[in-house]
Amino acid sequence: MTYDFAGKVAAVTGSSGIGLGAALHLARAGARVFLGGIDAALNAKAAETARDEGLDISCHQVDVADEGSVRSWAGEIAAATDVLHALVNAAGQQTYGTVEDTSPAEWDHCLAVNLRSCYLTAHCLYPLLKVAGGASVVHVASVQGHNNQNKVLAYATSKGAVHAMTRAMAVDCATDQIRVNSISPGSIRTPLLEYGAGQLATGGKTIDDMIEEFGKSHPIGRVGTTAETGSLIAFLCSDAAAFITGTDLRIDGGLTAKLGV
Ligand SMILES: NC(=O)c1ccc[n+]([C@@H]2O[C@H](COP(=O)([O-])OP(=O)(O)OC[C@H]3O[C@@H](n4cnc5c(N)ncnc54)[C@H](O)[C@@H]3O)[C@@H](O)[C@H]2O)c1
Repeated sequence: MTYDFAGKVAAVTGSSGIGLGAALHLARAGARVFLGGIDAALNAKAAETARDEGLDISCHQVDVADEGSVRSWAGEIAAATDVLHALVNAAGQQTYGTVEDTSPAEWDHCLAVNLRSCYLTAHCLYPLLKVAGGASVVHVASVQGHNNQNKVLAYATSKGAVHAMTRAMAVDCATDQIRVNSISPGSIRTPLLEYGAGQLATGGKTIDDMIEEFGKSHPIGRVGTTAETGSLIAFLCSDAAAFITGTDLRIDGGLTAKLGV
């Protein structure tokens, strides 16, 4: 399903995986997109994809965990547009560890990248979102903010907090006609999932073997795609979702609906 984003402007963080999928979906539907990511090579690759398709996506180097960097990205956006209709926070990182072996530095970094960043981008871009008179903010959380596997203490904490922040932001921002929602993906094939598969692979299993196994734990029988998350994000950014705010939508192939017994 596509929605019309002609004349709309969006800012998206995360220049690969779910962020890139959202940026491509929005741009293909007519939006002008500002895409921010920390990895210069991924930014260049995203820019090349956009150029090849003739899409209006400009890629910027930004560290979403760093206030100065986010302020400077917001400044670049404000110099190029006086309105923002959508903000999608998809930059993120996986951090594995228990309470015993997660270091304070790992904890702080995970929460800065996955949680504080969602506040920072919205804070810095708020004046532009306010002007739209009907903007939409989408945070990419995770099923791990609802239920979780072992050894994801900092990650699960960051994602559960994104759910709470989404509600709190939505209640406050409604007076400015800004809707705020999150999505909680199950396993989606992205570089992050491939990294996780590599970490968990044992006994000669390949990343593809692991991803096939992840897929089997989802009732739908496979992992999801960035086209599918892009489509859901675009729906939440569109007028079709005009009465949806303060909620979390799971896109998990039934993963969290299933009991493990
Ligand atoms: N792929 C999945 O199965 C899955 C499931 C649930 C939730 N998520 C969430 O989706 C989001 C996107 O992950 P993905 O799967 O697309 O992985 P990904 O690795 O492809 O994308 C994450 C992007 O964030 C960027 N990034 C990391 N740290 C950054 C920083 N400090 N500043 C700016 N950019 C930074 C990376 O360079 C990368 O481009 C993450 O928040 C992740 O937790 C993913």
